[in-house]
Amino acid sequence: ISRHTGILERYRNFLPITDKTPLISLHEGSTPLIHAPNLSEKLGVELYVKYEGLNPTGSFKDRGMVMAVAKAVEEGSQTIMCASTGNTSAAAAAYAARAGLRCIVLIPSGNIALGKLAQAIAYGAEVIAIDGNFDEALRIVRDITASEPITLVNSVNPYRIEGQKTSAFEICDALGQAPDILAIPVGNAGNITAYWKGFTEYHEKGLIKSLPKMYGFQAAGAAPLVLGETVENPETIATAIRIGNPASKEGALRAVSESAGLVDSVTDEEILEAYQMLAKYEGIFCEPASAASVAGVIKARKQGKIPADVKVACVLTGNGLKDPNIALKLVGEEPRSVPATRDAVMSLIGEKAGE
Ligand code: F0G
Repeated sequence: ISRHTGILERYRNFLPITDKTPLISLHEGSTPLIHAPNLSEKLGVELYVKYEGLNPTGSFKDRGMVMAVAKAVEEGSQTIMCASTGNTSAAAAAYAARAGLRCIVLIPSGNIALGKLAQAIAYGAEVIAIDGNFDEALRIVRDITASEPITLVNSVNPYRIEGQKTSAFEICDALGQAPDILAIPVGNAGNITAYWKGFTEYHEKGLIKSLPKMYGFQAAGAAPLVLGETVENPETIATAIRIGNPASKEGALRAVSESAGLVDSVTDEEILEAYQMLAKYEGIFCEPASAASVAGVIKARKQGKIPADVKVACVLTGNGLKDPNIALKLVGEEPRSVPATRDAVMSLIGEKAGE
């Protein structure tokens, strides 16, 4: 049993913590690295998933947000603000509530998953839906926070990256080494930047012998890093990564080139297939954007870009419960309704017997 609560205590020696930094925690981090035996067998690799959906607000954002909010408090800030496709706003709202800060979030109207919106509202954030996409929301937030006494808590805030790098530490701690390949969905590109920072810091300290190759995957309709140019109107079912102009693109490209990895795109169909495979074959429910990591591994493996039997860790960035509409509307069958009798139920089970 760990005597630590959250990541600030657990990894304090690796983080920009002073004796004035409040060690805020909702017990974020310490998420499981789960072996996926069924998908490993299908794909011919040793597959693990880092299930970040088990963080307190259901996504990896909690790691970065606890650090950013702790520093905001340390610096005397009273208000935080972010643009978000949903998860950042949920995390910001929760940690702001915990720390007693005002929280303002800008979201793209109509393009955020229901669970995420519910969280931001429940945690008491001031939620503003703009008639525009994430990139436009971030531009406005950067503009306002540059001149107002409000702390920006998007991942362009370096403390966000510091907190998020701790997930790479945990993967290495769990495996006793780095994986051969780290596969990760890429949206605004902060997280891939953070993981690479985490792996390189562990490597420099001699805590791992080798570095992983970083494989970043974007949704095909929102793949500026693959296309090499900004996407004006990004579109994907994976609303979390519906981003056309990633703020941390340099960090992402550096991670990929320094690690001899790759950045590629996966279609919405490939994302949904991987999303269903994780749920049906492994009992792991993640949100669509998260499944881009596994979809990418499936694609890269088919193309021969991943050799057999290597150790692959896929980051599952968010919980499937964030976006129940996708599961209900786009995959699987509607529940069948019958009268409330044993016979009626048996008639359905019987039909299916032997399947
Ligand atoms: N997966 C999920 C579930 C996300 O919410 C995000 C980003 C990403 C992957 C991509 O991470 O941006 O660091 O490359 N969500 C942000 C948000 C944009 O506002 O919640 P990234």
